[in-house]
Amino acid sequence: MTPPITDATGAPTQHTRRSYLGWLLGLCSAGVSAILAVPLIRFALYPLTAKTTETKWSDIGPSADFQEITTPIQRLINVEQVDGWRKQISDKVVYVTKTTGGETCVLSSVCPHLGCSVQWAVAQHQFVCPCHGATFGIDGARLGGPAPRAMDRLDSKVEADRLIVRYRYFRQLVPGKEVIG
Ligand code: FES
Repeated sequence: MTPPITDATGAPTQHTRRSYLGWLLGLCSAGVSAILAVPLIRFALYPLTAKTTETKWSDIGPSADFQEITTPIQRLINVEQVDGWRKQISDKVVYVTKTTGGETCVLSSVCPHLGCSVQWAVAQHQFVCPCHGATFGIDGARLGGPAPRAMDRLDSKVEADRLIVRYRYFRQLVPGKEVIG
């Protein structure tokens, strides 16, 4: 026969089968809770671990529309940026133009000097910034004025016969092209 379980004073303890099962159940509950908490914690921390800002590709239009262009074409695009849980949609102006080699390219209209919106001047056949008079060639090359560099070229490609672009923000007042968002 098994002797009764006693404590240090020799008195019988309360360790019964029921209390042992209760303890086991509590342990299982804690384990299950910990497992379920993992995805919740990952969800809560997602904005901290995700890439700072992700910019989706924006549609400009059918690629065929830009094959024969001889002067820059202005387009308003829809830019979708995702930052953690926050999604922001804004309209931006870009120019579709040609490089000196005849390749289609897309330029940001933001002046690299102080951020005014550069316009294509038909009569002068060049881009002109209305704020301080910076001028740029048809391919965005810097021609004159206070802008420290050429107009900023954006990543673009043709997908399913559509010309698409990834919009970016660049640091102003510096000679090198530096993405800031
Ligand atoms: S903002 Fe364009 S020249 Fe100054």
